[in-house]
Amino acid sequence: MTGRKEVDIYKSAEAAAARGAELFLSAAREALDTRGRFTVALSGGTTPIPLFRCLAARAPFAELDWRSVHVFWVDERCVPPDHPESNFCLAREHLLSKLPAPGAVLHRVAGELHPDEAARRYESELTSAFPDAEIPIFDLVLLGVGSDGHTASLFPEMDLDRFSGRRAVAVYVEKPRSSRVTLTLPVLTSARRIIFLVTGAGKAGIIAKILGGSGEMHYPAARVAASENHVSWLLDRDAANWIENP
Ligand code: 6PG
Repeated sequence: MTGRKEVDIYKSAEAAAARGAELFLSAAREALDTRGRFTVALSGGTTPIPLFRCLAARAPFAELDWRSVHVFWVDERCVPPDHPESNFCLAREHLLSKLPAPGAVLHRVAGELHPDEAARRYESELTSAFPDAEIPIFDLVLLGVGSDGHTASLFPEMDLDRFSGRRAVAVYVEKPRSSRVTLTLPVLTSARRIIFLVTGAGKAGIIAKILGGSGEMHYPAARVAASENHVSWLLDRDAANWIENP
């Protein structure tokens, strides 16, 4: 059985991001109404910045109890939290610092620690936040895709099945050379809702391969997108070039 899949194409990156912000808020409302809390894992990279900004602008009018919103990260670079490459830093600057006080509950990866220690602590954080679950079930994971088909910090050259008993792992990435901590495939695919926000012409090639029907399961993003849960792709016209001009 597979869940609902949607591919939506927007006229601009800003419009795709605005839809992402709307979906974030509706997923939050539904989770708060039904389960009393909303758990979300945010992507890093530059693509989500317009989404974060849009969400920050709407937050004061959203009538959400932000104290019941638990924010995690799908991955983090092993740098201190105020480093320009830190995914936490990016989300704080564009979104988290702008939420109505007292804001959301933050569960960041301690990127300033040794990568193995940071992954171990993040796994403990996940266990505490999802105590009854064998695998954490996020209400929403927000993902991007790299032009090589990676998502979070799961890269094509990695044997993803090797991590299947783990919730988060430390990985070393050759391009760009960096140590990172990432959620694993079972955690990402178990989320109730998965949103890929992918914009820009530089992503058209990989989008064609992943969504073009040839089932390129070699790409980590394609493996996450094969989740049995609700998967939405929000693309701008540049990234969706092959769909409009196959
Ligand atoms: C990260 C990510 C990563 C990102 C893609 C796309 O920490 O870099 O979470 O998976 O989503 O690399 O990055 P851009 O949005 O910068 O293109």
